[in-house]
Amino acid sequence: MHWPLRRSTLVLLLAGAAGIAGCIAPAAAADAPAGGEPWWRHAVIYEIYPRSFQDANGDGTGDLAGITQRLDYLEQLGVDAIWIAPIYPSPQVDFGYDISDYRGIDPQYGSFADFDRLLGEARRRHIRVILDMVLNHTSDQHPWFIDAAHSRESPHHEFYVWSAGKLDPAGQHHPPNNWVSLFGGPAWEFVPAVSEYYYHRFYRQQPDLNWRNPEVERAMFADMRFWLDRGVAGFRLDAVTELFEDAQLRDAPVLGGVNAQGDPILSDLYTKNLPEVHQVMRRLRAMIDTYPDERVLIGETYLEKTADLDAWYGGARRDELQLPMDTLVGLGNRLDAVTFRRHLLESQTQLHGAQPLVVFDNHDNIRSWDRYGDGVHDAQIARIIAALLLTTRATALVYQGQEIGQRTATPRRVEDVRDPLGVRGWPRDKGRDGERTPMQWDASNPQAGFSSNPHTWLPVTADYRSVNVASESADPASLLNWYRRLIALRRNDAAVRAGGMVMLDERNPAVLSYARVSGTGATVIVSLNMSARTQKVSLGLAQAGLRGSQLRTLLSSPDSVAADAASNPLILPPYAAWVGQLR
Ligand code: NOJ
Repeated sequence: MHWPLRRSTLVLLLAGAAGIAGCIAPAAAADAPAGGEPWWRHAVIYEIYPRSFQDANGDGTGDLAGITQRLDYLEQLGVDAIWIAPIYPSPQVDFGYDISDYRGIDPQYGSFADFDRLLGEARRRHIRVILDMVLNHTSDQHPWFIDAAHSRESPHHEFYVWSAGKLDPAGQHHPPNNWVSLFGGPAWEFVPAVSEYYYHRFYRQQPDLNWRNPEVERAMFADMRFWLDRGVAGFRLDAVTELFEDAQLRDAPVLGGVNAQGDPILSDLYTKNLPEVHQVMRRLRAMIDTYPDERVLIGETYLEKTADLDAWYGGARRDELQLPMDTLVGLGNRLDAVTFRRHLLESQTQLHGAQPLVVFDNHDNIRSWDRYGDGVHDAQIARIIAALLLTTRATALVYQGQEIGQRTATPRRVEDVRDPLGVRGWPRDKGRDGERTPMQWDASNPQAGFSSNPHTWLPVTADYRSVNVASESADPASLLNWYRRLIALRRNDAAVRAGGMVMLDERNPAVLSYARVSGTGATVIVSLNMSARTQKVSLGLAQAGLRGSQLRTLLSSPDSVAADAASNPLILPPYAAWVGQLR
């Protein structure tokens, strides 16, 4: 279903905004009856990087029993689901994203008994468990690949992407084309036993599966069923945009320049987002829809434009992923009201009314604290990011540590780097260790309560004495309590949870303001000063068709923002975040 796109200066958007003059009724409103919404629609999903969350057995690496120990914390924070990065058996070259058995649990994380306990304890707290699913590649230690690389006649040979490459007059083998791995170096690796190259989008220990072979789909879907049958709530699909590559293996257009790994910068025309992937997504969606309880598919979808996300929902048919990620890491790293306003408008108007999943932080990117911070107002800016994440009409993803303001702690010496990306790319690309350091729980020991073992797999960041869950829990003005209050507001307030969005004061270059309006007309206003100056904001509520004469502060940081008559301007100190009710 399409609906006309309208960009009035004051009023736009969306679901359930009854009573607002000129508001557009989107598809989302139609198929989201009150009370009958799937659980994921307004959920807060919390990403757990299991190596670094909580170590229960004292080996210096996090584990499943550790996650179970911390469920009370997650329940208090108000999360609806956890997504756990891969826990399957793996040589750990890419820390779990190189899977050697899709139906097992890596012993360093625990056993099936630990997993089932985690699932049961999470369920008791109304927290769903989402697993990571790597469909694009396996480990080179997976039995399929071992078999495939043994002989061209092996039953699993065609499970992978092979090419004989080119032979020069001197009898030397060369790769079939110019493709490079996203993790550095050529994307092709020669295997003498079969006299062919295999393709790897990521490390050479991560051979790409051949999704043109229906057997691959059958096998991977069966592996997913294994976990769905065990009770997981769905999957985050790793690198799902990369499943297919050009069948003719044509050379990628060269864009010029060199990337951080020292490779030529190429177009991904032939290696990403190929149309064939959508057929697989549709069949995958149909498969998970045979299960009860609204299992969910989340996509790791880094795309160029907001509108590109639409195809991943299945366009107007909405028969693919429920939640392809709207990864704001691609927006540039400037806290800029104009950029965020534009992006919000796009995600509310270009996705057939689908629910965006907003992601600022994850285990692959410099933390938002460091990306958006200016070194002076970082703590305030982190509150603005939290408000943006949790008060727009979107499902929200919080990455462990984001809620306490953990910083990126990039290694200073190459000898200390654990991520192979950083080892190979040093010093231009220092890898992803910085955003994967252990969760900082308390100051009870030098491991910040993460582990009893002084040798944690990555070092604990030195600021753990002040930046930790225990001390921030005790401080009403902490970032953690700001997150808790925002999440509680989102849970309890119908307008913030599921209301439509109306942009306000749309020409303001420094302050982003919008209203959330529930089906009954209850209205919450959000105003975020993204500048280092005090700003006087005229919200223009009446012009936007919003009814009410008084503003009442619900949440404010700093707490000095005064709100009274709706017709008076709001005075926002530098980087203030304000949320209020219109009555
Ligand atoms: C994306 C994952 O988030 C990242 O950590 C991993 O290295 C690549 N996909 C390859 O699986």
